[in-house]
Amino acid sequence: MTIGNISFPQYPVFLAPMEDVTDIGFRLLCRQMGADLVYSEFVSSDALVRGVNRTVEKLEVCDDERPVAIQIYGKFVEAMRDAAQIVVEQAHPDILDINFGCPVKRVAGKGAGAGMLQNIPLMLEITRAVVDAVPDTPVTVKTRLGWDQDHRIIVELAEQLQDCGIQALTIHGRTRSQMYTGEADWTLIGEVKRNPRMHIPIIGNGDITTPERAKECFERYGVDAIMVGRATFGRPWIFKEIKDSLSSVASGNSLPFVGPQPHSVASLKTPVAPNPSPIGRGVDTLTPDWKLNVLKQQVLTSVERLGEYRGILHSRRHLAASPLFKGIPNFRETRIRMLRAETTKELFDIMETVKPIVNCEL
Ligand SMILES: Cc1cc2nc3c(=O)[nH]c(=O)nc-3n(C[C@H](O)[C@H](O)[C@H](O)COP(=O)(O)O)c2cc1C
Repeated sequence: MTIGNISFPQYPVFLAPMEDVTDIGFRLLCRQMGADLVYSEFVSSDALVRGVNRTVEKLEVCDDERPVAIQIYGKFVEAMRDAAQIVVEQAHPDILDINFGCPVKRVAGKGAGAGMLQNIPLMLEITRAVVDAVPDTPVTVKTRLGWDQDHRIIVELAEQLQDCGIQALTIHGRTRSQMYTGEADWTLIGEVKRNPRMHIPIIGNGDITTPERAKECFERYGVDAIMVGRATFGRPWIFKEIKDSLSSVASGNSLPFVGPQPHSVASLKTPVAPNPSPIGRGVDTLTPDWKLNVLKQQVLTSVERLGEYRGILHSRRHLAASPLFKGIPNFRETRIRMLRAETTKELFDIMETVKPIVNCEL
């Protein structure tokens, strides 16, 4: 499968764009764990055009994470066109993605993101304008099945978007009305893929949480790639698990798996997580100890980038959600302590106390 001139191995697995989650540190980690393509958090075109600092910071990418996609959103043709050019000039992403899927009120309620599913002519106009604005960068779109159950228009919309010149389409198998409730419905994703008029790659997204489900999505719905979002929280090694399970039928060429690597953590006055993973370690040998170290590395990377306070805040959602701690008796109290920890040392000390339990329980 190719997007523009980027070639992917068979059965590609992508990291979904997630606001406040897929910053450069997390993207790098997921690439190390086997993700074939990583996406930035969405970037507001309006804020980018105005040069808002926090927004401009989101354009930071590094060569080690490539291929990387930067995603923009907005509802004004001019701002989206200008933002696309700014992104390409400043960040040189491998792919520029347009968000027509965000369901949250402050975005969709104002007509951007999934709100655009109620104004298809404008959606197509924006798409054409962005494609024309960055002729040397592949433009892709991520959207949902439709606005609500009665308006699941994705089969026809996919053709229209393809006609605008996009080079791949990601479909999250929910409507805007569903937000994140219910189950993702992959049947329409499969229908888009089977449409003989479609020739661009179709990336399926929604509720992939296990290697078995990943395999099923490829086999049953025939998608060209899958995208994983929430299941990466506290479990970035899910890419390795999925890729290994698919490797019997695929020969991959994703970034070599090297386990957690300290990225220039020398400057940190915090404990450095050791790198316990030999290159090419098999998924069946991903020990709880190793996984704990991956999470520690994730904390360190966040702290290095954001400072100790914000870095720890940023990592908490992952620690709280990690399946590594599921099943530990009376974990609630420990989790609360983890969520209240304010320094890296405090957090790591707590993780050390659960280490023996994690190792013998799981
Ligand atoms: C915290 C969070 C932030 C998200 N931010 C974005 C975003 O910036 N852009 C986007 O296209 N989708 C965003 N999404 C949606 C995900 O990319 C994905 O479509 C959705 O979570 C379904 O996939 P999953 O079931 O694998 O999580 C976000 C989802 C979550 C949970």
